[in-house]
Amino acid sequence: MKIAPSLLSADFSRIADQIALVESAGADYLHLDVMDGRFVPNITWGPKIVGDLRKLSPLCFDVHLMIVEPERYVDEFREAGADIITFHLEATSHAQRLLTYIRSFGAKAGIALCPQTPVAMLDDLIDDLDLLLVMSVNPGFGGQSYIPNSEKKVREARALIDARNPRCELEIDGGIGRKNIADVVRAGVDVVVMGSSIFGAAEPAGELQQLRALGTPVAGALR
Ligand code: DX5
Ligand code: ZN
Repeated sequence: MKIAPSLLSADFSRIADQIALVESAGADYLHLDVMDGRFVPNITWGPKIVGDLRKLSPLCFDVHLMIVEPERYVDEFREAGADIITFHLEATSHAQRLLTYIRSFGAKAGIALCPQTPVAMLDDLIDDLDLLLVMSVNPGFGGQSYIPNSEKKVREARALIDARNPRCELEIDGGIGRKNIADVVRAGVDVVVMGSSIFGAAEPAGELQQLRALGTPVAGALR
């Protein structure tokens, strides 16, 4: 299991410290949520901020684009230092073209699915995916409640990946913490994004390690 702390819930007045904390605690990726106020009802940051953060950490930058027409911005996010670029299937008309384009410049390409979008929509795209992101909340905000149907989607996504493209990583994002991390890992996720449960904790580094311990013993056990 990989852990990807989401900076959405970090304190940006001391962002260098916050990144150093999760890095020292063994974070695998840094998850960066880009929101445009159109695809989702919230606004975060653009390529300039991602580029500045890039100077603070060598961790894999897992950039989650929650923006309309993501094809207009992928070059800029790559130049800013994104390692993985994930866009929403619901936000573009030509997903296969965009996946191919992202991979053509050496980044990893991911697709995110909102809670209402079935895994079956990826049937003709799975070969071109490096990462499949199952949203377990409606995208836009940190600290929301986990949608229980997500576990069924994770199992479906796991089956699709195992059958058709085993090197694709399966990521989950939204409402994950102590009470459900073991369940989602057991259902088959490889990468767990967590914002409020890490950065909302009194000691984010210790909490990340606790969460890893809770998720690790079951990893792969019931696949
Ligand atoms: C929500 C974002 C998430 C967010 C998750 O739209 O994509 O990455 O930070 O926050 P938590 O873990 O608090 O649900
Ligand atoms: Zn996210």
